[in-house]
Amino acid sequence: MIEIRLSELASVLQGTLIGDEDASVTSTVETDSRLISPGSLFFAKPGEDADGHDFVSDAIKHGAIAAVVERQLPDQINQIVVQDSVKALGLLAAWLVSELRSRGNIQVVGITGSNGKTTTKNMLREILSKVGPTTAPIESYNNHVGAPISILRADAQTQFLIVEMGAKGLGSIDYLARIASPDVGVILKVGLAHVGEFGGIEKTATIKGELAGAMQPSGKLVLNCDDSLVRKMKEISKAPVVWFGTDAEANYRAEDITLTKDGTSFTMCWPDGQKETITLKIIGDFHVMNALAAAAAAELLGASKKQILDGLESMELAERWRMQRMVRPDGVTIINDAYNASPDSMKAALQTLAQLGRLGSRTVAVLGHMAELGELSVAEHDAIGRLVVRLNISQLVVVGDEAKLIHMGASQEGSWDGESQFFSTIDEALEYLRGILSQGDTVLVKSSKSANLRFLGDRLMEAAE
Ligand SMILES: Nc1ncnc2c1ncn2[C@@H]1O[C@H](COP(=O)(O)OP(=O)(O)OP(=O)(O)O)[C@@H](O)[C@H]1O
Ligand SMILES: [Mg+2]
Repeated sequence: MIEIRLSELASVLQGTLIGDEDASVTSTVETDSRLISPGSLFFAKPGEDADGHDFVSDAIKHGAIAAVVERQLPDQINQIVVQDSVKALGLLAAWLVSELRSRGNIQVVGITGSNGKTTTKNMLREILSKVGPTTAPIESYNNHVGAPISILRADAQTQFLIVEMGAKGLGSIDYLARIASPDVGVILKVGLAHVGEFGGIEKTATIKGELAGAMQPSGKLVLNCDDSLVRKMKEISKAPVVWFGTDAEANYRAEDITLTKDGTSFTMCWPDGQKETITLKIIGDFHVMNALAAAAAAELLGASKKQILDGLESMELAERWRMQRMVRPDGVTIINDAYNASPDSMKAALQTLAQLGRLGSRTVAVLGHMAELGELSVAEHDAIGRLVVRLNISQLVVVGDEAKLIHMGASQEGSWDGESQFFSTIDEALEYLRGILSQGDTVLVKSSKSANLRFLGDRLMEAAE
């Protein structure tokens, strides 16, 4: 954040200031009173579990210069009363971006897509940090609250601002795109993530496409040319398009993608015709697509090929619980990818597991349910079970009643060298797994967040110690 007087702040937030007009915000903007430091601004946001208004006095105690509130509080507190504090947060983020832009120092990149946003964001952060001061969201802060909060971490030094844009229905990406007004927009893919919530893949495409529609002619739009729905977004973009993918048309193209137990390597074909081998420490051939997108955006923003290469190759981890690989002392490899799961990311992870199987591992898939699929839920869970059989994974372990259809799908798919087991609880599954795992096995753990299998993955790591 940059310094702003409370009187100006009130006008930016379209609110009413009660208190000291001449005081200024000199530190961060927070919605969590525990993070307040002297000079911070506190946003009292009514949340699902708690109401920020109950924490205003705590924020003031920690040194907040003022609070943004929806209900007026006692007069001795500097406060800006607004109608909707979440909207006010968006107004402030938009103001900060335009203010920093008018000072001429900042370039903004916005990333959306059904899978890979956080991974791509982390890759870009790794690269751009080598070029100049870079502000990026922590974790997956990507919704109408998290994205503005992340943007507000930018300050006068920031040269690159990375914004992850998560979809929450029609208009949600447009809202974030207007706040951030990206110089470079990246659309990774349209898939089945949240499809139940949005009502079909076409609708999902429309929402992700809002970033394309919001781009200015002076910007650049980075699109996946392997994804037909993303491809079409060129038609609604005023900004010129740069393509990435494996298709011949791609400006940033990957060839010869190979997976080893230690990572993923590919030949990067740059727009100028040069070729180079890049080896990612992270596994999953789908991460090559994220790497291409990050490379394209980074080069457009001024990074050199060397900075891009070094950034991509030095990344140890896409993000916690995203294809997080750990080798136990007894030689069992655990891949914990249970932060979230959609049919696409489930398929991608299982294909990676099957590839590792072909390199000589016995493969074990420990799967839980995929949330937010609506009426597609039954068919998609069944299909995942059948896919496990078709990929000839050695052992399937399905965990949790909501995931049982995966086990049933596998059981009905026909003969197979492997076998499927179902357990209602994580503890039962863990007990079973402890008994069967041995040196050389590779175990993939994957589910939606609510199934909590990421903790099973963590406990499996401990199991052999
Ligand atoms: N290009 C891709 N295709 C398929 N799966 C992918 C791809 N990129 C990442 N994944 C997988 O998708 C899951 C989510 O990855 P990541 O956290 O990077 O995505 P995200 O778009 O930020 O998700 P969220 O919407 O939860 O913020 C992980 O399981 C990851 O391994
Ligand atoms: Mg994310």
